[in-house]
Amino acid sequence: MTNIGSFIQEADWRKEKHSPLIKAPSSVAAGELFELTVGLSPEIVHPNTTEHHISWISLYFHPVGAKFPHQVGRYEFSAHGESVKGPNLGPVYTHHQVKTFVKIDKAGTFYALSLCNIHGLWGAEMKVDVTVSEAPTGDKML
Ligand code: FE2
Repeated sequence: MTNIGSFIQEADWRKEKHSPLIKAPSSVAAGELFELTVGLSPEIVHPNTTEHHISWISLYFHPVGAKFPHQVGRYEFSAHGESVKGPNLGPVYTHHQVKTFVKIDKAGTFYALSLCNIHGLWGAEMKVDVTVSEAPTGDKML
């Protein structure tokens, strides 16, 4: 049996229009919401037409030391100019980018998977560290 992971393509997003790009702070405070954007390379724009488009992006988080990743979100891009008049004559297109807010309590890696309807699965990752603020304790006063 072939592992489906062997079909996930990876490339530098500066050179490949299919590569997902995760934008988030490299370090966040434990338990505090932060903004995370996931989309495709902003350098080389991927087409968004009825015939050729990004169908979805899935985002996962794998905490350091955990056995499995957790799914954070799955974002469907359903409108690509479809119309009864013909392809690319429809009134709406969904751009393949999502902004969301997440919080984590442990460092780990975010993984993004995107699917181009013609060119398959593409993946990218980003590590995020977590800082833990020291809670004030009265014990030191004793
Ligand atoms: Fe494509």
